[in-house]
Amino acid sequence: MSTIHEHDVIVVGAGGAGLRAAIAADEAGADAALVTKLHPVRSHTGAAEGGINAALHDEDSVESHAYDTMKGSDYLGDAPAIEVLCEDAPEEVMRLEHWGMPFSREEDGTVSQRPFGGLSYPRTTYAGAETGHHLLHTLYQQVVKRGIQVYDEWYVTRLAVTDEPDPRDRTCEGVVAYDVQSGEIAGFHARSGVVLATGGLGQVFDHTTNAVSCTGDGQAMAYRAGVPLEDMEFVQFHPTTLPSTGVLISEAVRGEGGILYNEDGERFMFEHGYAGEWGEVASRDVVSRAELTEVQEGRGIEDEYVHLDMRHLGEDRILDRLENILHLAADFEGVDALQGPMPVKPGQHYQMGGIETDENGATCVEGLYAAGECACVSVHGANRLGGNALPELFVMGKRAGQAAAGVDLGEARIETGRAGDEETDEVDAPVPLGAVDAPAIEGDAAADGGAVTETEGVLERAVQAEREWIEHLLEKDTGVQQAELRAELQEAMTEYVNVFRNEDGIKRALEVIRRVRERYQDVYVADPSRTFNTDLQQTLEMRNIIDCAEAIAVSALVRTEFRGAHWRQEHQERTDDDWLKHTMISWDDGDPTLWYRPVILEGDRKTYEPKERSY
Ligand code: FUM
Repeated sequence: MSTIHEHDVIVVGAGGAGLRAAIAADEAGADAALVTKLHPVRSHTGAAEGGINAALHDEDSVESHAYDTMKGSDYLGDAPAIEVLCEDAPEEVMRLEHWGMPFSREEDGTVSQRPFGGLSYPRTTYAGAETGHHLLHTLYQQVVKRGIQVYDEWYVTRLAVTDEPDPRDRTCEGVVAYDVQSGEIAGFHARSGVVLATGGLGQVFDHTTNAVSCTGDGQAMAYRAGVPLEDMEFVQFHPTTLPSTGVLISEAVRGEGGILYNEDGERFMFEHGYAGEWGEVASRDVVSRAELTEVQEGRGIEDEYVHLDMRHLGEDRILDRLENILHLAADFEGVDALQGPMPVKPGQHYQMGGIETDENGATCVEGLYAAGECACVSVHGANRLGGNALPELFVMGKRAGQAAAGVDLGEARIETGRAGDEETDEVDAPVPLGAVDAPAIEGDAAADGGAVTETEGVLERAVQAEREWIEHLLEKDTGVQQAELRAELQEAMTEYVNVFRNEDGIKRALEVIRRVRERYQDVYVADPSRTFNTDLQQTLEMRNIIDCAEAIAVSALVRTEFRGAHWRQEHQERTDDDWLKHTMISWDDGDPTLWYRPVILEGDRKTYEPKERSY
């Protein structure tokens, strides 16, 4: 018999969304537990620098925040979700303040706000240039205070979901996790609900601001369990990352007045007319494309990057508001940013798409919820505004935690799951998609996620299937190693499914992904250890990276328009007549289906009319 832990609500992941979900579930009277592959304060939320958007001032408004967010999304966000985000953000920011979050302040003691890209009002609250670090610690203190149980360094590798033909009839019973410290594999039964809050998938690419832990675990597990992935083609590339490591240099530098220069010393955002009067604080996709255009046209430095200069802001202001940037530039690039400009180039930063949820965090599978970067609710649409990720973590994390605990949040306007009458699409893929026919273990397509066929004992059987797969990996003594596969896939995604995309390149990426998926059937783990076996953990993560990469590339291939972060060489127009719709992909037991869901532009506050995004 396997060990089965039992709680009302199991939250997977302990970054900002997971911690907030667990607190909300606890506040609702549920016995909540966090199961997380990292200790909570090592979560990637801690790397967030810039800030939190919330309409706090009388001159600002929820309407204005919602409008900026919808416009920033290039009209691919859903109005009900955007309005919830912007309505709830101010109250949640004040709650953080009461919980002790050390926000940066003005002379009169009020919380400071600064400009960020695409905002019509400077509404980004912050704590220096290490906002995420303080957010994470503030939330974790609340978790400790409430005595919420944390299973840290337990890596959730599989969802225990029933296997009815229609995912909307399925139920999530819990999760299976691997204890990184001891090698034990155990089940976690959720009496009321499971919340996925596992963060991003930056490791699909080889130049990313994301931590090595961001491997798309939640997205891939939910996908294989039958939940559609939404808008996966929309990947945000941040314009200011350090070239040698991908470490983020916050947009706050440009928000405070930092300037971008090319090799000729030109302030190219203005001199080459990339974004009108928005200049350096245009939306991220616009600035990223501008930088790469400078490089491609021969005005890049060392044919690779541009310069970001903040020296003119003065040492006092830099130390007051951007001190962390000095440390990052010095430690990771060897540059003293008080004395010279910083080299920067675009890098993968954020995934707008993800697990399809409604505005209460619910997926189409009963008992399964998702929040934060792994989810797509969708508030960010085709492009996220800087400073909108952190409010999403706590606004949607809270709602998902409450819903999982059984709190009635009212009927959602966003539908989830596929009824069967939606528009579908044939994918002109050069290779087969989805599961490889011959599973690595006979009788269970474990390498492709597997499936549990009877409702009774769902969790026990999921534990057993995962144990067999892990034993197989540890006992196999030849084959291919995940590191080789990971590098091949990451390089292809960065080469072909990056800021600039075209049909040939995306198809090449799909060929590489297929080759990697097939070779993954022969993967083995060289290190036989049962404790702190990072090779094993990364091998388990690799199957998630493969599924996420394929979903991104397929979605990028079918969307034949240019919208937000999705630029297509052959399709240089945003075509609202054809494409005001979400790209959805369903795993369908290993034979993926591509389909569409209309965007909801009617909010409670207003109906948003698509306009040209002129920055
Ligand atoms: O540039 C930044 O500080 C990033 C902020 C964000 O992604 O929201």
